[in-house]
Amino acid sequence: MARLPILEYPDPRLRIRATPVESVDDEIRALVADLFETMYAAPGIGLAATQVNVHKRVLVTDVSEERNEPCCLINPEILHKEGEISYEEGCLSVPDVFEPVTRAEKIRVRCLDEQGEVREFEAEGLLAICIQHESDHLDGKLFVDYLSTLKRDRLKKKIAKKAKRDGPAERDASRISAPVI
Ligand code: NI
Repeated sequence: MARLPILEYPDPRLRIRATPVESVDDEIRALVADLFETMYAAPGIGLAATQVNVHKRVLVTDVSEERNEPCCLINPEILHKEGEISYEEGCLSVPDVFEPVTRAEKIRVRCLDEQGEVREFEAEGLLAICIQHESDHLDGKLFVDYLSTLKRDRLKKKIAKKAKRDGPAERDASRISAPVI
């Protein structure tokens, strides 16, 4: 297992659309293990392969308090969406930014698990938010894309200024106030 570097906005590689996994083999299982290690170390509650510059449709989450409910989704498909929920989201690829995003409150998902078995289940609340956020990553979409142009422009300026001042970002976990997806 290895902890992988996480791409940060506005890196254009975050915009690459991931391709479906054709067979769930040892290579994919090694990727899943690396994604979990990287997510737990960050720390985050979700991570998509896109964020570590692997453009395959694989994502991992763990929204439990105890960090003991790892959940891996390969080729996730959101079959159904219901209701609305607004949540202040953050993202490991957009450090120190938290903004409210409205998504479906409840979803039905189909995916493959680490053994390549088809799984279908319902998710709601934070898990539903997380799966939608990570699925977006696989499509090259970021949560900041949901913000107004004005807010996004402000954000870009802030990030450019910070990069100029600090050089490559050093994540300061003590400043994370909410779970980062
Ligand atoms: Ni994210």
